[in-house]
Amino acid sequence: MAENPTYILSIESSCDDTAAAVMCNDKVLSNVVAGQKIHEQYGGVVPELASRAHQQNIVPVIDVALERAGIQKSQLSAVAFTQGPGLMGSLLVGSSFAKSMAQALNVPLIAVNHMQAHILAHFIDEEGFDKPVFPFLAMTISGGHTQIVKVNSFFDMQVIGETTDDAVGEAFDKSAKILGLPYPGGPLVDKYAQLGNPKAFAFTKPKVPGLDFSFSGLKTQILYFVQKNIAANPNFIAENINDICASIQHTIINILMDKLKLAVKETGIKQVAIGGGVSANSGIRKALTDAQKKYGWKTFVPKFEYTTDNAAMIGIVGYHKYLEQQFSDAATTSKARIEL
Ligand code: KG4
Ligand code: ZN
Repeated sequence: MAENPTYILSIESSCDDTAAAVMCNDKVLSNVVAGQKIHEQYGGVVPELASRAHQQNIVPVIDVALERAGIQKSQLSAVAFTQGPGLMGSLLVGSSFAKSMAQALNVPLIAVNHMQAHILAHFIDEEGFDKPVFPFLAMTISGGHTQIVKVNSFFDMQVIGETTDDAVGEAFDKSAKILGLPYPGGPLVDKYAQLGNPKAFAFTKPKVPGLDFSFSGLKTQILYFVQKNIAANPNFIAENINDICASIQHTIINILMDKLKLAVKETGIKQVAIGGGVSANSGIRKALTDAQKKYGWKTFVPKFEYTTDNAAMIGIVGYHKYLEQQFSDAATTSKARIEL
């Protein structure tokens, strides 16, 4: 450990998870996430309800993060927060809190890009997890994003492919909704998929040129497929849920892997990392692990707790920005949309 450890409190509130973490340099001392059940009944995140829940959760979540880390506020070297992209009402809760706290403690404030954080989560120091070496390819797959990024250095990233419509997480969640599963359906599709036959039903992959993605056609295909089969057998979903989920997941993973293979071919870079909520998916995790043997890639799959939204990933970016003295001030504004 460095002679002068840097303690950073990081706050993530871009969507429907209120999260806080305390880092000591690049190690995680605590990583606390409070989810928001309230959205389940609406089948998706309701922005107004998300910001209200953040308001209720943020103080206890930060208290618990500090307590679990065994760190006093007075020991903090900086406060990092998610600047965007995300829901404005949600981002504002985290940013306002971070600004007041940094000001009260008289420590630097660090603004972090959520999508950079999903990628740089691989630089958290964890036993058994290697860190990528620049340049590497990162595929960010979440509820809001699907991108392939060439990562040249910590803060030099180039998007070389992205979705032209839905994000892959939305493809999972919308398919789940069609099957009558609650929000967010991605983890449930994954759960059933592990029990089913991935070749039971065939769905066609979209033809999108280059490294871009499209998922809206698949969603429509699944809707018509389910409607047609229910007309013939009202119990079709219940009787085939495992096979349907396995077939959907298989198709989505194939789409992702086809593009990754093309990205490796085009860039000549064989180090491949994944990040974002969908990197929790068992299918993509297995496909990446298999790719090491099959194609000779070196692949990086995040530790499970750093896949879906969390504050440790904000903290690791905060630490590297701290080292480079990339600080913000109270005039920094939250951004619903922000480039990498
Ligand atoms: O990164 P994240 O927590 O939030 C965003 O920034 O969007 O990603 C959430 C997305 C949701 O669409 C959720 O269904 C999906 O990640 N997800 C999964 C799994 N776990 C989370 N999708 C498929 N399989 C999973 N195991
Ligand atoms: Zn995310």
